[in-house]
Amino acid sequence: MKRHFIWAAALTVAISMGSCGKKGEIYKDPNANIEERVEDLLSRMTLEEKVYQISQQVLGFNDNMNNIESLNPIPLDSKIGSVIYMGTDYKYRNEFQKKAVEETRLGIPVIFGYDVIHGYRSVYPIPLAMGCSWNPGLLQECTKVAAQEARMSGIDWVFSPMIDVARDPRWGRIAEGFGEDPYTASQFAVAAVKGLQGDSLNSTKTVASCLKHFVGYGASEAGRDYVYSEISDQTLWDTYLPPYQAAVKAGAQTLMSAFNDISGTPASANHYTMTTVLRDQWKFDGFVVSDWGAVTQLINQGAAADNAEAAIRALTAGVDMDMTDGVYIRELEKLVNDGKLDIKVIDEAVRRVLRVKFRLGLFENPYTPDSKDEERWLLPASKEIIQKAAEESVVLLKNENELLPLSTDKVKRIALIGPMVQNAQDMLGSWNGHGLASDVTTIYDAMKEEFKDATLTYAQGCEQDGEDRSGFGLAVRTASQADVVILCLGEKNGWSGENASRSTILLPAVQRDLLDAVARTGKPVVLVLNNGRPLELVDMEPQVKAIVELWQPGVTGGKALARILSGAVNPSGKLCVTFPYTSGQIPIYYNRRNPAREATQGFYQDVTVEPLYPFGYGLSYTTFQYGKLKISADKVAAGGKLKAEIAVTNTGTRIGKETVHWFISDPACMITRPMKELKYFEKAELKPGETKVFTWDIDVNRDFSYVDSDGTPFLEPGDIYIQVQDQKVKVTVE
Ligand code: GLC
Repeated sequence: MKRHFIWAAALTVAISMGSCGKKGEIYKDPNANIEERVEDLLSRMTLEEKVYQISQQVLGFNDNMNNIESLNPIPLDSKIGSVIYMGTDYKYRNEFQKKAVEETRLGIPVIFGYDVIHGYRSVYPIPLAMGCSWNPGLLQECTKVAAQEARMSGIDWVFSPMIDVARDPRWGRIAEGFGEDPYTASQFAVAAVKGLQGDSLNSTKTVASCLKHFVGYGASEAGRDYVYSEISDQTLWDTYLPPYQAAVKAGAQTLMSAFNDISGTPASANHYTMTTVLRDQWKFDGFVVSDWGAVTQLINQGAAADNAEAAIRALTAGVDMDMTDGVYIRELEKLVNDGKLDIKVIDEAVRRVLRVKFRLGLFENPYTPDSKDEERWLLPASKEIIQKAAEESVVLLKNENELLPLSTDKVKRIALIGPMVQNAQDMLGSWNGHGLASDVTTIYDAMKEEFKDATLTYAQGCEQDGEDRSGFGLAVRTASQADVVILCLGEKNGWSGENASRSTILLPAVQRDLLDAVARTGKPVVLVLNNGRPLELVDMEPQVKAIVELWQPGVTGGKALARILSGAVNPSGKLCVTFPYTSGQIPIYYNRRNPAREATQGFYQDVTVEPLYPFGYGLSYTTFQYGKLKISADKVAAGGKLKAEIAVTNTGTRIGKETVHWFISDPACMITRPMKELKYFEKAELKPGETKVFTWDIDVNRDFSYVDSDGTPFLEPGDIYIQVQDQKVKVTVE
């Protein structure tokens, strides 16, 4: 008996040692608690290993046009904590991982990151378009596809979602977020985190998300990039922080610190935002990575005299990982050895990085499993989801005399004109990951497919910019011989995204002149726009019968447009960002404060106060009749509940999807509030004649409260108005 017992005991010890290496190596034990594993591993690390663990370098040829350094400032070392992996070959990625896991002293796996902003290879519409779909569930499906493609290609961590509230369309990065409203951005941020991270990070189909750019980057002065942003604490809390707060609560694993200077303290050296708010108030336990070179850039911003000071400021403020500038590697060891930096600060940053790696299962599964390209990306089911997203993001801005959808009994000859008709690359938008132009269905090809019975003709007319008008003649002749002109204008994908600010939101003159020339034929013109920002359309609008905002739809490209023009799909998009009447109105957004004077006093004397197309605007091929807005009580106590309802009827002849936007306004408050604030939205499909009662279940504290400059929500007794379209109903909070 005794012999057997000894055998069994020996076997147990062997198994436990086998699963966690040498005796006591808890960090290698997959059954141990993650926090124990973190502490055990941290206790074994040298200072040099710790410093490398909180640094990121580039693996592969860096094709980020705004950060073009083909070489790392420091030779790439397999002790590195993370790399931005620019390739799509998971075998190459595994070879690098093998060096980290099998050739370094502790075998800590690398975490591989990449910019997957709206798709890895199956590129879906830019986020600004997705915001116009008012369908966060659809975004969740798209991000789920992106996560699967990324993880199967060797990426464990994506630098998205970008959730910066933006109100200046001159700023190129407005394309990357979900528009001007904090609540909208919050809803889409949560959907993106859920889609990317799924139910478990320890999976071959999910990735860690990265909320960016923390925080207030969208307030960049005058729409320029990398600049100062004047943000009061009040505005920080009521406008820029809400999407981050919602997404951290949803379980986001990382954040990226921004380039902008927040009222004198750069975001990447901002202890208040990255520690007081993020850690102390929100209890965030993942890690913060700097934006590209943002640590060393503190010198440019006047926040540090040298890299040593930049390293101390960034790390002690809360930047746990230094992206690509090598400052932490070059400076931290010496700072600790000289007694200028407490190693405990480094330890906490290392803990956070290791914690996310353990959650991702990288210690047990450091290598990307084998798969075939056709198993990884552009799956038919993925493209169907993207097609649906593109269709629901399209916003019909004008449709005079119901020119659209094109009725093929009347329309036999369709002229496709403009620089975007045959364009594929720009359909992908900025930050298009590993999307390929060859994956894109052009407008031309999609229209040929959708309108087989019509005669389609084509003329490019001009390029997107430049002064060459030699193609106008053919364009005019082509238009003259058609029943209708589909004029496809727009932006290059490099005109939005990072470092892509523009002084005006007008399209280049050559495109506007092409419109003039084509419009003078007298043929009805449908203007189709591919763009990454709101545009100034006030002079173009009168010259066309219809305007379709296609945005930059991704790989399914022109298909959404073709199906909308044919009526196969009824457009349901509504703007999540205001289209100004002129560039001179910028910034103009719906949730601005009330002015001191009534009516139009104080506004521009030379142009209307209203935008051309307001937040929430979008037409349909059917009509919706809104019934009377009703609420379950006209008085409610703090902490109480309330139900608001409105019946909506499809009074047209086509099935259509309608989004009901629920706003509130608080006419008198200790802190002035926006003239109206979006607090809930719901989208639903209605058949002709169908009536649906849209309901908002109001939690008075959650939905009626405001926030002060410390982030403390407060609810004042008094009147609150609930608003849908132009109906307002008063409820009194007692
Ligand atoms: C860029 C961008 C950021 C991106 C990062 C890595 O400069 O600002 O959005 O995730 O660097 O490419």
